[in-house]
Amino acid sequence: MQDFTGRTAVITGGASGIGLGMARSFAARGMHLVLADLDETLLKAAEKELSEAGTSVVCQVCDVSKLEDVERLAEVTLDHFGGVHVVCSNAGVGLPTSARNLKLTDWEWIINVDLWGPIYAVKTFLPLIEEQGFGHINATSSMAGLVSSQMMGAYNVAKHGVVALMAAVERELRAKKSAVRASVLCPGPINTNISRHSVDFRPGRGKPKGDSEKAGKLAGNIQSALENGMHPDEVGELVAKAIEQEKFWILTHPHWAKTVQKQLDAMVNDQTLIRA
Ligand SMILES: NC(=O)c1ccc[n+]([C@@H]2O[C@H](COP(=O)([O-])OP(=O)(O)OC[C@H]3O[C@@H](n4cnc5c(N)ncnc54)[C@H](O)[C@@H]3O)[C@@H](O)[C@H]2O)c1
Repeated sequence: MQDFTGRTAVITGGASGIGLGMARSFAARGMHLVLADLDETLLKAAEKELSEAGTSVVCQVCDVSKLEDVERLAEVTLDHFGGVHVVCSNAGVGLPTSARNLKLTDWEWIINVDLWGPIYAVKTFLPLIEEQGFGHINATSSMAGLVSSQMMGAYNVAKHGVVALMAAVERELRAKKSAVRASVLCPGPINTNISRHSVDFRPGRGKPKGDSEKAGKLAGNIQSALENGMHPDEVGELVAKAIEQEKFWILTHPHWAKTVQKQLDAMVNDQTLIRA
């Protein structure tokens, strides 16, 4: 059991949704916080809430898809708190469109934020955590990182990559008997504003045209699943507990992993792709 009281956590995408849920749970454990996000207004609101509750919090505007921004984030963290003990690479975006019709600029945007963001976090922060000899690095994937559903091609690719990245990191840490741990968060539907934020931050902004009816229907289904989803504060608490208990897999809806088992069975038994 790891105790991070008085230690420092960095959370990207920390100004809203799941990231803010993590921030609240870490704050309740007496941690100092560095919140990074593209949205300055949301960052200011999060800073106000957490600092008024007595937490030492620093906010930094940061685009996780830019290495120089992530490196700057590490510098700001060390300048303020002198160390970094927990990193949650959590910022993410998504867009329901078929793999065939998704514009290349959207592929690049989604993969840059959702996959290169965690890669830059590992590259920048893991050496700092390892130098201290203990700590934890976590990244947010999705159930879409375990099962690839239709109409979410780029998101699936990025989120599968995040699972692969964190599994490699954790295995490498264990192989060298490090006290540093890694983990991956795979949420199911969580009630956040990810759809609106993704539309706001999309290069050129706005919803994509193309798949029209099918994408519109799927977007509606996703939106209603999100609105009926788990509260992000609950996810924050799950993450904080899993990090304390040094768990690797953090699943908000573990029963959904049965689909992964079904896919493995079908792969071995009749080599078909199951419906998902
Ligand atoms: N909500 C869900 O149902 C769900 C399910 C599975 C996975 N996830 C993942 O959880 C993570 C958090 O999403 P959320 O649901 O809390 O959504 P959210 O929109 O509430 O939070 C994501 C935050 O990331 C920020 N952001 C977007 N692009 C950024 C960039 N380039 N650099 C820095 N910050 C950026 C946004 O401003 C926002 O504050 C994402 O990685 C998402 O893919 C969410």
